[in-house]
Amino acid sequence: MKILSSNLFSLVSILNDLTYHDGNEIGSQLGISRAAVWKAIRKLKNYGIQISSIKNKGYKLEESLSLLDHSEIRNACTNYNLKVEIFETISSTNDYLKENLVVNGPNICLAEMQTAGRGRRGNLWHSPFGQNIYLSYAYKFQKDVSELSGLSLAVGISCINAIKECGIDEKIMLKWPNDVVWQGHKIIGNLIEIVSENYGDSTAIIGVGINVNMLQDSENITQNWTSLRKIAGRYIDRTQLCIALIRNLHDSLARFAAYGLQDFMQRWQELDALYDTKVKPSSSAHEGIAMGIDPRGNLLLKLANGEIETSYSGEIIMPK
Ligand code: BTN
Repeated sequence: MKILSSNLFSLVSILNDLTYHDGNEIGSQLGISRAAVWKAIRKLKNYGIQISSIKNKGYKLEESLSLLDHSEIRNACTNYNLKVEIFETISSTNDYLKENLVVNGPNICLAEMQTAGRGRRGNLWHSPFGQNIYLSYAYKFQKDVSELSGLSLAVGISCINAIKECGIDEKIMLKWPNDVVWQGHKIIGNLIEIVSENYGDSTAIIGVGINVNMLQDSENITQNWTSLRKIAGRYIDRTQLCIALIRNLHDSLARFAAYGLQDFMQRWQELDALYDTKVKPSSSAHEGIAMGIDPRGNLLLKLANGEIETSYSGEIIMPK
């Protein structure tokens, strides 16, 4: 676990014009030695960032890269009374918040990279350095776990709203229960873990992974995936997207706490990628036509005999 150093942030800002910069020149701009510059370059390379170096010319980034701007994110969080911690690398942002659930502890954890990012059903979540968003948000509800069904749907809606606010207008939709997709390719996943407390209160650790600027995956992700950069055709500012995401989650979680899923039903219907298509939930023996969700966020399926079947969990398979 490492806190992102301001030197690394400034170094990447200098190199992000994709031209060569001499080690001495960088050192004097940052007020550090040439050896310290070299160490920071080596660190970036170890994180998988492509940097070429030529004697007498210096270092050059091969691909656009900008790191999360701590002070901008911190300022935004202060407005909402949220305490944020941002790491250069961490095992999993969800695990960090779970281990630090204390009074006045952090509400939000962000990282440039996760070494053991977790997806649902025990899957790993591919989390390369500096490309995507890995964010967890701890929110205390005065509700029992049983009242939190449908929370992941509200989180998915918040993610899409944040993306739209950043000017990405592509048709990004929700695939029940937890995925945000574009033409069947996954862009976002969320992993919600609930910690029950005394007197019926529960804290939800809401983990969101967004494929932002990733163009390739080095680990052969098994699901069909895409990234915002791929679909929008431009490099996306992750800091602005993080801030929009935090703002939307902050508002949505308060609305969910006050009114529950019913406050999100209309928006869900607008964004439901499965509505009126033939699907087969992995938890069901049948395929049928998806008919939206019930008030608890369960999927409704119209079977061939006209009956409506309810699916409570599981993955959705799209039959041919
Ligand atoms: C899924 O399988 O669709 C859920 C993926 C959730 C990934 C995010 S990234 C931030 C947070 N930390 C984790 O370890 N997982 C979640």
